Amino acid sequence: MKLIGPFKQIVTLANLPLRGKLSDDQLEIIEDGGLLIKEGKIADANNFYDLKEQYPNIEVENIEDEQVCLPAFTDSHTHICFGGNRANDFAMRNAGKTYLEIAESGGGIWSSVLHTRKASEEELLKTTLERINSVISLGITTIEIKSGYGLDVENELKMLRVIKKAQTFTKATLVPTCLSAHLKPRDFDGSSVEYLNFILNEILPKVKEENLAKRVDIFIEKSAFLPDESTEFLLKVKELGFEITVHADQFTSGSSRIAVEVGAKSADHLEATIDEDIAFLAKSETVATALPGASLGLGEKFTPARKILDAGGILAIASDWNPGSAPMGNLITQASILATFEKLSTAEVLAGITFRSAHALNLSDRGTLQKGKKADFVTFKTDNFHNILYHQGSLKAESVYINGEKM
Ligand code: NIG
Ligand code: FE
Repeated sequence: MKLIGPFKQIVTLANLPLRGKLSDDQLEIIEDGGLLIKEGKIADANNFYDLKEQYPNIEVENIEDEQVCLPAFTDSHTHICFGGNRANDFAMRNAGKTYLEIAESGGGIWSSVLHTRKASEEELLKTTLERINSVISLGITTIEIKSGYGLDVENELKMLRVIKKAQTFTKATLVPTCLSAHLKPRDFDGSSVEYLNFILNEILPKVKEENLAKRVDIFIEKSAFLPDESTEFLLKVKELGFEITVHADQFTSGSSRIAVEVGAKSADHLEATIDEDIAFLAKSETVATALPGASLGLGEKFTPARKILDAGGILAIASDWNPGSAPMGNLITQASILATFEKLSTAEVLAGITFRSAHALNLSDRGTLQKGKKADFVTFKTDNFHNILYHQGSLKAESVYINGEKM
């Protein structure tokens, strides 16, 4: 056992509901807090001096300066395994070119597919690990990572193998997701439905065989896969035993409804979700995930996070870090900005990047600092937790702990 502290504040995020709005006065704040760690888990979170008295001979990891401690964050939606970059897309977009024009002049998702296909497993592993380490430095210790830039058997498996390999080099938890249904690849000889069947028959059985992912994602959108074909695909995916998540309502509405109807664990994006569908989603078990990094990257409106919470939904916030629509890769900055535009309380933002986003990945063992939870936490050199979001990401994490060990 080990005692870490004293922290000026521990924000435990304990005893908060999974769904709906939150106010900051619901937050449990332990002043002069201490964390008791046993076998990588939280044994107690309490007043540091009381804990010290209770365990007089315990090993103490002393915190010398004023620091605030929170549960480490979970980024439940990223595409950080990719080759190349899309700086040209950025320039073209800002010069007023449309999505279609960018795609036609060699940009868009397809250009990342070509770069990712060209990259060797070693190269992809190296850049993915660099991004993972950058994510960890923000205080994020659970990271979902999607395939979706391979779009054929060889390269989708290559991406998922790289993610699996990356797990052996990091203590962070990586959660792989198969996004072969990101786009119908230009070199696929057949219809969208035929491509979706190809995923079902040729890719997913191998994903299962090699235990490369337990989750499947699809991009439902006019430019990608249409509602009916997607529904049929997802129902079959479910039969194969995969969990489902959906890129929903990014530009046009309707697909969040599909996500709910097929029992998806989460519906992500939702920038274009209409009020009626917000109500439907908010009553369901499907987590609504806002991706403010994509709104910032594309200059689109934000996900209606306020409305989702007021309607009682489960709101998570994730980075969507990818080379095209969300190249920033800083969830703290993005969540802070979302809070400003959507009028979210600090409690709502912190819940959205901790236990609520962990729930989207089916992980109930983390995201709060209470007895029995995984001892993943992050500290900031400040005397008040409000400073973290107030500084919009420029107050950097001081230390990141995984299983009670400092990284
Ligand atoms: O979540 N919307 C579709 N997929 C990604 C974009 C990926 C890309 O542009 O490379 C997203 O925004
Ligand atoms: Fe995405």
